[in-house]
Amino acid sequence: MPASQVLFGLGFATAFYTTLRFLRFIYLYTRPSSIKRYLYGHCPWALVTGASDGIGLGIAQELATNGFNVILHGRNPEKLERTKSQLQGEFKNVQFKIAVLDISSATSCQINELVASLDDLNLTVLVNNVGGGAKVQPLEKNTGEELDFTINVNARFPAQLTKALLPKLSRPDGPTLIMNIGSLADSGVPYATVYGGSKAFNMAMSSSLAVEVKVEGKNIEVLAIPVGRVTDVAHSKEPSSFFTPTARTMARACVDRVGCGRQVVTGYVGHAMQKFVIDLLPPIVFEILVVPTMKDRKDEEERKKL
Ligand SMILES: NC(=O)c1ccc[n+]([C@@H]2O[C@H](COP(=O)([O-])OP(=O)(O)OC[C@H]3O[C@@H](n4cnc5c(N)ncnc54)[C@H](OP(=O)(O)O)[C@@H]3O)[C@@H](O)[C@H]2O)c1
Repeated sequence: MPASQVLFGLGFATAFYTTLRFLRFIYLYTRPSSIKRYLYGHCPWALVTGASDGIGLGIAQELATNGFNVILHGRNPEKLERTKSQLQGEFKNVQFKIAVLDISSATSCQINELVASLDDLNLTVLVNNVGGGAKVQPLEKNTGEELDFTINVNARFPAQLTKALLPKLSRPDGPTLIMNIGSLADSGVPYATVYGGSKAFNMAMSSSLAVEVKVEGKNIEVLAIPVGRVTDVAHSKEPSSFFTPTARTMARACVDRVGCGRQVVTGYVGHAMQKFVIDLLPPIVFEILVVPTMKDRKDEEERKKL
């Protein structure tokens, strides 16, 4: 075969592959959500952890918009009651309950008690959103307690809660959803070493579970959503932008990705574009783009301590 034909064939295949990938990307971020699959039976409920602020609060609002009754989990009873009244005023036709548990030190016994308190509810959705808690600082500057706290809130608690709720979510009468909120900081971001590690644990656990429930014949969608920088959360009220959405925009994106058929999906389109560019470029560009931002945040953290 002449070289010109080989080159033409290669060019055509590359163009075809690139177009296909582009169309898949567009479809992923424009297809309608399948969240209503989980709205069945008498009075369906969703449990959202860390729902008194930020993305968790946004997800609670989005689920209520879709007709779900929502259990708002958090650690501060007064703040949760305020959130519940605010949401009840906004969504008259759905119910809200609160579940109080400080997860940084929660024992498996306390987690089982929380799960037992949901026994009578028709629970079809679990959103493992709670997390964070890490200071932006070099690993050796963390105290042992800070490390334990970070691992507990981002990895240990979601694992324990998911395990305890799995029997309830393994239903013969219909599908259920487990959504796990992760972070794009789970791969090689400096000064967030243990936070990134605990989020990577979370994402790996989610992917493994997605396959495990399938193999076990359970009708459960397990969806992991890594998140980039978000504003209007407890620790940041900076102005929003295309690449830094508000917590509510991020929450809507999470709910919109339900049913997309993937085990792990970057929830928000602006974050997906950032990830695409970072993955495409050589590591040196990542260092030029990301490292200075993290250094600034570390310096700010150090200034706060003085
Ligand atoms: N914001 C971002 O830029 C970003 C980026 C990547 C990933 N994420 C991930 O997205 C998720 C939500 O983050 P966010 O920024 O929306 O958080 P946030 O605004 O700080 O809200 C966190 C929620 O979790 C609750 N919470 C925190 N510690 C708790 C504890 N020990 N026990 C029980 N509840 C606790 C908080 O309760 P209180 O209201 O009482 O504090 C609040 O309801 C986290 O998993 C985070 O790692 C966020």
